[in-house]
This record gives sequence, structure tokens and C-alpha cells, in this order.
Amino acid sequence: MESDVASVATRLDASVAAIAARPDHDAYAVEMWKYALAYHRGEEDPESVPPAASEACDAIPYIPPPAISPGDEPDETTAILDVGCLGGYGLYDIALRRRRANRDLPVLRGIDASGESVAMARELGETWGIGADLAFEQVSIENLDHAPGSYDLVIARLLLPYVEMETALAKMARVLKPGGKLLVQLHAPAYYRRQFVRNLARPVTAFYYLRPIMAGMLYGTTGRQSKRPWFSETALSVDTATRHAKRHGFHEIWRGGFDVKPLALLCKGSD
Ligand SMILES: C[S@@+](CC[C@H](N)C(=O)[O-])C[C@H]1O[C@@H](n2cnc3c(N)ncnc32)[C@H](O)[C@@H]1O
Repeated sequence: MESDVASVATRLDASVAAIAARPDHDAYAVEMWKYALAYHRGEEDPESVPPAASEACDAIPYIPPPAISPGDEPDETTAILDVGCLGGYGLYDIALRRRRANRDLPVLRGIDASGESVAMARELGETWGIGADLAFEQVSIENLDHAPGSYDLVIARLLLPYVEMETALAKMARVLKPGGKLLVQLHAPAYYRRQFVRNLARPVTAFYYLRPIMAGMLYGTTGRQSKRPWFSETALSVDTATRHAKRHGFHEIWRGGFDVKPLALLCKGSD
């Protein structure tokens, strides 16, 4: 199994490099794939130490171990949906950890609004997902129509700041089983405040970061999100997100991560 894992990683290196050479590639997805592959090389090499999570990047492990109590890790009976799956690197991380332990994989589904992201996820999934129950679909969370109660875990890392919150929360609550978990990562107001201050010398960029702060204040105080494209990105604290998630039957069971990009695990209360 170890050599399978190594040969898959070598083929993925080549495939990611080939995708990166295409003029229309999704640069962010390529960057995250390169990071994931380098991270795992670091984890597998007894001589090296994988990079510690930092504010700049804490993307791997995609399911941070402190979020899941021992014995509650995803197994082959778990169905996972990654919303905003960005080339599928996060599901690859989840699958690889099972493969390394010589264990069967969970059911893995990824959706993303971006066609490039999904095309990349499918292309790379043909290498790492052999034998897995794996599928990627180009669909926005607002249009998600998977069967009610079909997932044990929904992952929405760095997605909620970009979507219409009430619709997204309702859609995710609908597809989760009672007792299912929702892992979210947010861009907190502190993230945008910091970017705003850093860019004060560039007023256009500074204003770009001011808009989500204003949108977040509107959402936090009134529960409304502006429909104007200018205010489509929303700074979200865990408190605000969990307060709204409560209306959709969620309660918070863990929070962690960095101040600027907090993580939270929510549980869908039994119906
Ligand atoms: C900031 S990236 C985060 C990707 C990944 N989850 C991570 O943590 O690295 C946001 C992703 O969400 C996708 N996205 C944005 N709006 C979406 C929507 N309404 N429905 C589904 N995916 C969306 C984007 O295409 C992008 O891949």
C-alpha cells in the first residue's frame, strides 16, 4: 500500500505540473494541490517535519484532528460532502490518510461552482480515486439537490464568506443526517481588517477589503446580506455564523483555528 501511495503521489505531481502549464488553469487550485502533495511528502518522510499550520495556510489536514474526537474519525461508512472543493485536494487528503492506514475510504463527494475546479478535481481524481466511491459535480451550494439526509459530514472551508448564508445553511442542513456534522472555516472580520490596514497605501485594494467588513456588520446586526455584487463577500465571526446556523438546527461542538480564519464544527441536532 505504501508503494501505491508513493506512485500515486508521483503521478499526481506530474498531472498537477501538466495542469499548471495550461493557460486556463485555476492558479489557486494548483497552488493548493502543490501544497497538499508537498505536505504529504513531508509527513511520509521520516527525516522531515511537515509544515506547522500557520495563519497563511492551515489547509491540511483538511479535517483538523482536534475537531474530531478519537474514535469518531471518518471511516468507510461515512459519507462526506466537500462544498467548494477547489480541485479536490481536501478530499484527497482525507482519502490518503485512510489509504496509509490500509483502510477503506469514506464515500466522497465534492461540489464547486467553478467548472475549472471541478474539471481539475475529476482529472486528478482519476489518479487518486481509483476504487473509491468518489464524484465531483459542478453545482453551486444554492442549487444543491442531493437527497435529504445523505451525508454524515459536510465540509465548507472558506466557502461561507462568498455565499448567501441562509440558503447555504439550509441546503447543508437538508443533506445532513440527524446528528451529522458541519465543518466550517471562515474569513473573520480580523482577516479583512488586517488586509485593510496592510493596504492603506493602496486605496483601491484597501476598499476591496473594507467591503466584506461592512457586509459582515450588516449581516451580524440585521441578519441581511446585500444582494449587490460589490457586497457579495461577508466577514463572518464564528459567533455570527453559529448564531445563524442555530436557526437551521445546528449547535456548535468545537471551535479552533486561527483568529483570522477560525474553524468550527457544528452538529445537526436530531430531528
Ligand atoms: C476560497 S476557496 C476554498 C476552497 C477549499 N474549500 C479550501 O478550503 O481551500 C472557495 C471555493 O468555493 C467555491 N465556491 C464559491 N462560491 C460557491 C458556491 N456558491 N457554491 C459552491 N462553491 C462555491 C469556489 O469556486 C472555490 O473553489
